[in-house]
Amino acid sequence: MNLKGRDFLTLMDFTKDEILYLLDFAQEIKKDVKSGHFLPILKNKNLALIFSKPSLRTRVSFEIGMRQLGGNSLTLKQDEINLGIRESIADTARVLSGYADCVMIRTFAHKDVEEFVQYATIPTINGLTDDCHPCQIMADLLTIKEHFSKLEGLKLTYVGDGNNVANSLLVGCALVGINVAISSPKGYEPTGRFLNFAKEIAKTSGIKVEILNEPELAVDGANIIYTDVWASMGQESEAQARKEIFKPYQINAQLCSFASKDVIVMHCLPAHREEEITHDVLEKYADVIFRQAENRMHAQKAIMASIIG
Ligand code: CP
Ligand code: NVA
Repeated sequence: MNLKGRDFLTLMDFTKDEILYLLDFAQEIKKDVKSGHFLPILKNKNLALIFSKPSLRTRVSFEIGMRQLGGNSLTLKQDEINLGIRESIADTARVLSGYADCVMIRTFAHKDVEEFVQYATIPTINGLTDDCHPCQIMADLLTIKEHFSKLEGLKLTYVGDGNNVANSLLVGCALVGINVAISSPKGYEPTGRFLNFAKEIAKTSGIKVEILNEPELAVDGANIIYTDVWASMGQESEAQARKEIFKPYQINAQLCSFASKDVIVMHCLPAHREEEITHDVLEKYADVIFRQAENRMHAQKAIMASIIG
């Protein structure tokens, strides 16, 4: 599978086989690292990380992941480069293309990343935009595969805001054959190209893609319940109002009782305990949730090792 030079902006740009290949590769790399073998696949390669929003997992998993592969990384925070403000995105893309071998961007508008790749001559990875969070979902699929030893035929129910994580889950699950249900309050459901893409796949693959307002119905038979914060980065002013609107969408022990007996609960983190998830449920599934966080690093190493030329 040759993915050299490709950008990693949305999962919609990849085929099922490419996603499955990256997951297998991530498992292999993870096994190597766990047994103390650090293969310098990216020796002398340099990754630049651009952050217009805060991060713990994304920054650390990319930086340490790059080091584990023998490469280097440097982080540029918003106050340092002011993406799109201090100079144009096009100029930033061309300047960084002269220094680095790959760029990761976390920002607000997805179109800014699209503009960046038009001018960059090196691969670009989306580390989260308002629209989607593809690296997170690669880590999630890796975690699901490790836990259930399969992907196809499972059911994942996402309960909460129809946000960037929900959008990427729709696409990622549909691509690999996981039935996906999303339960959000009215007006907060995912819409648009990500949902349409997943529905299109469902037409031919036989999986189910459902949008349901009632969380109890949505989690019926779910093997995985997934949630994320109710107010994403950039929506801080709505946080208080959203707490009321999303109250019935909390992942708690009662909601989990409607799911399959083998259910696991997942969260991309950071979590707001007693809001989208109770403390008890988070702790019950802490092994899975913190493995998800760790798997960011292994999934992203597979992506970087595949696309960096
Ligand atoms: N899940 C995730 O992307 O975490 P950070 O915002 O800390 O990077
Ligand atoms: N939906 C969240 C995800 C954080 C990893 C946000 O965009 O803030």
